Amino acid sequence: MSYETDIDAAIQKLHDEGRYRTFIDIARERGNFPHATWTRPDGTERPVTVWCGNDYLGMGQHPVVLEAMHAALDAVGAGSGGTRNISGTTVYHKALESELADLHGKEAALLFTSAYIANDATLSTLPKILPGLIIYSDALNHASMIEGVRRNGGAKRVFRHNDVAHLRELLEADDPSVPKLIAFESVYSMDGDFGPIAEICDLADEFNALTYIDEVHAVGMYGPHGGGVTERDGLAGRIDIINGTLAKAYGVMGGYIAASEKMCDAVRSYAPGFIFTTSLTPSTAAGAAASVRHLKHDQALRDAHQTQARILKTRLKGLGLPLIDHGSHIVPVHVGNPVHCKMMSDMLLEDHGIYVQPINFPTVPRGTERLRFTPSPVHGPREMDALVNAMDTLWAQCALNRADLSA
Ligand SMILES: Cc1ncc(COP(=O)(O)O)c(C=O)c1O
Repeated sequence: MSYETDIDAAIQKLHDEGRYRTFIDIARERGNFPHATWTRPDGTERPVTVWCGNDYLGMGQHPVVLEAMHAALDAVGAGSGGTRNISGTTVYHKALESELADLHGKEAALLFTSAYIANDATLSTLPKILPGLIIYSDALNHASMIEGVRRNGGAKRVFRHNDVAHLRELLEADDPSVPKLIAFESVYSMDGDFGPIAEICDLADEFNALTYIDEVHAVGMYGPHGGGVTERDGLAGRIDIINGTLAKAYGVMGGYIAASEKMCDAVRSYAPGFIFTTSLTPSTAAGAAASVRHLKHDQALRDAHQTQARILKTRLKGLGLPLIDHGSHIVPVHVGNPVHCKMMSDMLLEDHGIYVQPINFPTVPRGTERLRFTPSPVHGPREMDALVNAMDTLWAQCALNRADLSA
């Protein structure tokens, strides 16, 4: 047996399929988002504009966030010094949890080190709390939910993406007396489509199921206070557990669930992913709380974000590009081949100073590879013009290259 050979084969497989991931080393320039410096593998540098970040509103450089982080760092130092149970619960964590509970109109919230961990830890723990629980999971749920459901030892049913008729069939097939939970997302991050929240809540009422929604790509951006699509549509009260991130629109890091006092208490008490890990740094919690607080009132920033997305979509459609448009802030351009997708991303970066990461399998199904743009209020008209012109040139150029490659 040769470990080296097996490792080489695993890596080579990714190269052969054109989906070996290359990380791009960038340093964003505070006060000058979305501009950054890219350091090439040979150590040389090039200025770039970031068009694929999930700091959707530019909060990562917002003065209220930075001031709160600096103040906490100076007051209590770097790390929290422990797990939540053993010396790692601070006033900053408690304040952030209160802010999040209030955001979603829930009794309580529970912080995790990321929304990935929040999904994984909660969904993998729920069957311990609710014996016999069946989880009904949307087929396009994020990897963190899939992982949590997969290894929770309980029963699962996967319903076709956004297909409430299929969900109904699956619910009808199960014993009415068995506990049930429906897990889905409000905004699916790769296509930018919305989940049918009201219809799913109706089914949950009918079949006495709990509801679990991932609002990672919506919190901060939708709803009059940034409470996500459930706030925008007046549906938060019908959802039992809301999951969100502090790393995207809020520009910092961390994840959470918001739910009833009792539910949060049970997850807090049983979830290994909550219990056995050091809590977020106090400065992270302080920055995130400042960001959540700020975005409860900055509707202008939310409006600017949506306007930017609309402008970019209109302009790319005007070029005739195959845009996937479901009316959200996410702007995916379908390429449909991992090699072409990487090639376009490389050319945008090197020739035009535009950074957009290629999105390949397993993040999206094979054959649906794409460039996923995330316009934000920090992208000005100059950056938008540069992107649209570059895509115009490149699409024509790559049409020729694609023909060469497939010849
Ligand atoms: C739908 C969805 N849920 C959860 C996560 C995980 O969020 P975090 O980056 O806070 O771990 C992501 C991350 O991209 C996501 O897209």
